[in-house]
Amino acid sequence: MEIDNKTVWITGASSGIGLELCRQLAAKGARIVLSARRKDTLVEIAKSLPGGLTRHWVVPLDLAVADDTLVTFVQGQLAEIGPVHILINNGGISQRSLFIDTDLSVYRKLMEVNYMGSVAMTKALLPSMLSRQNGMIVSISSVAGKVGTKLRSGYSGAKFAVVGFMDCLRAETAEHGVHCLTICPGSIQTNIAINALNASGDAQNKNDDSIINGMAVEECVRDIIKAMINERDEVVIGKGFSGLAPTIKRFFPGLFNRISAKTEYR
Ligand SMILES: NC(=O)c1ccc[n+]([C@@H]2O[C@H](COP(=O)([O-])OP(=O)(O)OC[C@H]3O[C@@H](n4cnc5c(N)ncnc54)[C@H](OP(=O)(O)O)[C@@H]3O)[C@@H](O)[C@H]2O)c1
Repeated sequence: MEIDNKTVWITGASSGIGLELCRQLAAKGARIVLSARRKDTLVEIAKSLPGGLTRHWVVPLDLAVADDTLVTFVQGQLAEIGPVHILINNGGISQRSLFIDTDLSVYRKLMEVNYMGSVAMTKALLPSMLSRQNGMIVSISSVAGKVGTKLRSGYSGAKFAVVGFMDCLRAETAEHGVHCLTICPGSIQTNIAINALNASGDAQNKNDDSIINGMAVEECVRDIIKAMINERDEVVIGKGFSGLAPTIKRFFPGLFNRISAKTEYR
């Protein structure tokens, strides 16, 4: 799908991959709808894009409350914004804690933000795409949505769910002009580890070596946009072990499981 003059709704637009998606897609001529919780940050980012607030929109929302009210709220914005051609379900939050230590509420929050948030945004925006027989849903899952490692049982559960949801949605929308693309990034240099939840649901507030040494966010986003233009179905983006892990797991599952049991991937 071409990007020029398309309207692209991006969740998690205030930081990391979402912020870089705003920059690179706006530079290619897209109009962006920026969503996340931090309104002031979104406004500053929108102002910095070509055309500023006359060309782009800021719609603050909280994916942790992904219910019918969110769906109605998002659909209510369409009267002002007009047709949304591409939805990027990017907003998300990670985890760094062992299952045995972790509060049940942390599992619920990871599922709500990462999975239900994506489902609710899709519920809001897919019907108008189907009625136009044209559109694209992009969901940012993770390599953690393809393989399991220590410290991420809630995050992986939610990201595996995103992969399954997108596989089913792709099958249901293929004949109706709507393309579904799943992105599985490995370790990318963003604030994901700093914001990751600990066992009691607070941000761990420290970075991880895997993220510090990960792929630059600019390169990751270039690959995401290439996958959008080429209408790919599912793409793994990462360097080193994080990029190879799904292939190792697929062809050598026993080996992968042994590595996973011995490694604390931080
Ligand atoms: N970086 C990696 O290594 C990596 C790897 C695999 C997958 N991913 C996925 O990539 C996506 C983007 O993450 P990132 O790496 O860019 O991390 P990030 O820098 O921490 O950005 C996360 C974004 O999600 C938003 N967000 C978090 N909770 C939210 C909520 N309750 N409601 C609405 N927005 C919320 C944040 O905005 P506010 O705080 O303003 O709400 C922020 O814009 C996530 O889905 C993540 O799981 C990242």
